[in-house]
Amino acid sequence: MWKLNFLLLSQLLTAHGGTISPSLLSKVQNGNKSDAILELPSIFENVMSNPALSLLSGMAKVNMMTTLFKEATSVSQAPFLSAISGLGISSTPFWISNDIAMKDVDLNAVQSLAALPGVFTLREPVKVRMSKINDVNRFARQSGTQWGVTKIQAPSVWSRSKGAGSVVASIDTGAYKEHESIRDNYGGKWYDPIYGKTAPDDRQGHGTHTIGTMVGRSNGIGVAPDAKWIACRGLDNSGSGSESWLKSCGQWVLQQRPTVCCNSWGGGGGQTFYNDVVKSWRAAGIIPVFANGNAGSDCRTAGSPGDQPNLISVGSTDSDDQMSYFSSRGPSPTGAIKPEISAPGGNIVSAGISSPTSYTSKSGTSMATPHVVGAIALMKAVNPGWTYDNVLSALSKTADRPNVSSNDLGCGRNTSSNYPNNAYGFGRINVKKALGM
Ligand SMILES: *[C@@H]1O[C@H](CO)[C@@H](O)[C@H](O)[C@H]1NC(C)=O
Ligand SMILES: *[C@@H]1O[C@H](CO)[C@@H](O)[C@H](O)[C@H]1NC(C)=O
Ligand SMILES: *[C@@H]1O[C@H](CO)[C@@H](O)[C@H](O)[C@H]1NC(C)=O
Repeated sequence: MWKLNFLLLSQLLTAHGGTISPSLLSKVQNGNKSDAILELPSIFENVMSNPALSLLSGMAKVNMMTTLFKEATSVSQAPFLSAISGLGISSTPFWISNDIAMKDVDLNAVQSLAALPGVFTLREPVKVRMSKINDVNRFARQSGTQWGVTKIQAPSVWSRSKGAGSVVASIDTGAYKEHESIRDNYGGKWYDPIYGKTAPDDRQGHGTHTIGTMVGRSNGIGVAPDAKWIACRGLDNSGSGSESWLKSCGQWVLQQRPTVCCNSWGGGGGQTFYNDVVKSWRAAGIIPVFANGNAGSDCRTAGSPGDQPNLISVGSTDSDDQMSYFSSRGPSPTGAIKPEISAPGGNIVSAGISSPTSYTSKSGTSMATPHVVGAIALMKAVNPGWTYDNVLSALSKTADRPNVSSNDLGCGRNTSSNYPNNAYGFGRINVKKALGM
């Protein structure tokens, strides 16, 4: 009799599979409300194994992926969406990651959702920040090429290509499209899930600065001045991003199918919330590049998504090729070398937002990341057939390898050559050498 009851009880418990994360549960005590994510099991591998995808490529593949993602998630999310709307909660479902973002849920709502049958988790949304540490000076126009662009030897590639044909996507605080450096190579695509503006806009300045470094055409700030840029605003005017905005941008970027996507933002390490977005981009041929974070110089300080697999994460160097003290070091929580690669990120001059001819200096792995994105735009313009693996391998094998400090060697390295290591990754990029020039 006792045994039978025990069996019934355990069956009930497994049928009611919703898990509530302890931090969400404590947040909604005392009548408080919190935004929350209802996370269902990933459908990524299942969708990608569909034979309908096997013969497709390019936009046809992206369109079919989108259709299949929407079909699979609308089935698995339907009972949850109807319960959520029955509770009067406003929500946004995501097909790229099979989860649902909800606004202002209370304890009662959390508990009634957790009682629904199925395997799922209710948790707090991830919050991220732009990966920038400071704004220093404002500069007037200058002549010549900025030090970071010169250091990675981009000007030596310009006789061959300045990036025409490549499209860089930015997920950041937006874009000041009127700036003299970027107004003529806007690719005409913009999405703003935060403020709903229908034309590019940036009240923070971080996004505009990173776009200037990728593709700016004036003041010597841009690595690939003939590439086009498109942008999604996933960080607000204070430089913070919610999981929901970033996933909205992730879905949008997939459907634009740019050459490469710049993500100069991140949060605490060991978080997997963006992994399905990154996998979808990779399946579509989009190269994901992320800041490794500014929590250095201790070991094991890489932020997410930068510390996750399937992407190129970027550390920051200064004009003497020393590792920036702030640049987050690896390894990742699973022991992988992080970052993959490094690039100039200290005292980088790029486009400002105070006037169409303004320039400012900023530091951070946020500033290193767009140097790598610009370099990839050049590499793909010269070799359109290169895959993610081709690009990462060329950057890695040809990177310059400065001496590594003993502290940084202590974070872990290839014992036979010191490279790759958990400060520079494979080294500081050199796009001229990566193109065999
Ligand atoms: C809940 O709300 C009260 C009053 O607004 C606030 O003082 C308290 O810190 C909140 N508790 C939590 C756990 O957020
Ligand atoms: C790098 O290390 C080598 C070997 O210890 C040394 O000879 C060289 O001077 C160092 N280079 C720099 C730039 O410090
Ligand atoms: C480690 O260094 C050795 C010697 O330079 C090299 O042959 C090997 O490929 C490196 N391993 C990795 C994982 O890069």
